[in-house]
Amino acid sequence: MPAGAFARRVQRWQREHGRHDLPWQGTRDPYRVWLSEVMLQQTQVATVLGYYARFLERFPDVQALAAAPLDEVLAAWSGLGYYSRARHLHRCAIAVVGAHGGRFPGTSAALETLPGIGRSTAAAIAVFCFGERAAILDGNVERVLTRATGFEADLAQAAGRRALWQAAVERLPARDVEAYTQGLMDLGSAVCLVRRPLCEACPLRTDCVAHAQGRPEAYPVKTRKLRRGRRSNAWLWLEQGGRIWLSRRPESGVWAGLWSLPEFESVPALEAAAGAWPGHGSWLPPLEHALTHFDWTLQPLRWRLPPRARSAAVTQGLPEGRWFEPGAALQMGLPAPLRRLLDAHP
Ligand code: ADE
Repeated sequence: MPAGAFARRVQRWQREHGRHDLPWQGTRDPYRVWLSEVMLQQTQVATVLGYYARFLERFPDVQALAAAPLDEVLAAWSGLGYYSRARHLHRCAIAVVGAHGGRFPGTSAALETLPGIGRSTAAAIAVFCFGERAAILDGNVERVLTRATGFEADLAQAAGRRALWQAAVERLPARDVEAYTQGLMDLGSAVCLVRRPLCEACPLRTDCVAHAQGRPEAYPVKTRKLRRGRRSNAWLWLEQGGRIWLSRRPESGVWAGLWSLPEFESVPALEAAAGAWPGHGSWLPPLEHALTHFDWTLQPLRWRLPPRARSAAVTQGLPEGRWFEPGAALQMGLPAPLRRLLDAHP
């Protein structure tokens, strides 16, 4: 299909069937658009909506975000997952205020130099805020483009990715790149689904190579399949007089930088450590949590220290942390399963 026809069909479909009512669509404020794009990177629109409104209430502009402590940003992000996004968001706000006088740069090339803003996100911000002719290519758009064009090259390889970026750039329309870009996003999230795409509703159907082949789900081609693993650990919920002990997780890895329960290698390892502690404990039902690379079972032990026991004898053997008064822990950036655990056992 010629590039011009491709773009026109996407634009027309967007005007008639795409989304027009999202809170980040009525603005050209780069702060608001940037925030929405980062939240939407790995999270569905329906989930983002509530977080987006609350986040903006708490941090109404880039200055407010840059001035906030990281812990408060993580707390507002808590539950959205992929916390490196929140850390980058904070660093990016600091860079915009510190190095750009509080104004986001006005081109995709300059936006891409900021922390946490990749090529596709930079392009989306530049399209929606400045009307720049820039190509996006996120997971949704990858599906639309590879299926429509029957793109067989392997996206696990740099050469394949380069070629698809080239195809994305070649299809950019001369005008109204906003509707085109939003249309690609909306097609990817509502029609060109990973499994069982709704081809009957697609404006590209009559020329879609994958549809003609009868195998839309064969695209995109990516050889490196994710091998999911399993992990199992024990969690210590240590309490004394209503206070709870939380440790800060390491700066890299799962839930980097969030406050969480001290983690032990295994149930026997935690049992061995607890053997010498005053007080008593009980095992709670295990938590199951699915992460990108593995399924994780967390087995919590709720241990109550007597009010007068010397707690330092226990806490000095734990990862660095501190006591939180009742309720205060819930104000921190916590992993979602921990928040649910604390909510379920007041
Ligand atoms: N996914 C990423 N960016 C989006 C946007 N602006 N609208 C809808 N879905 C998106």
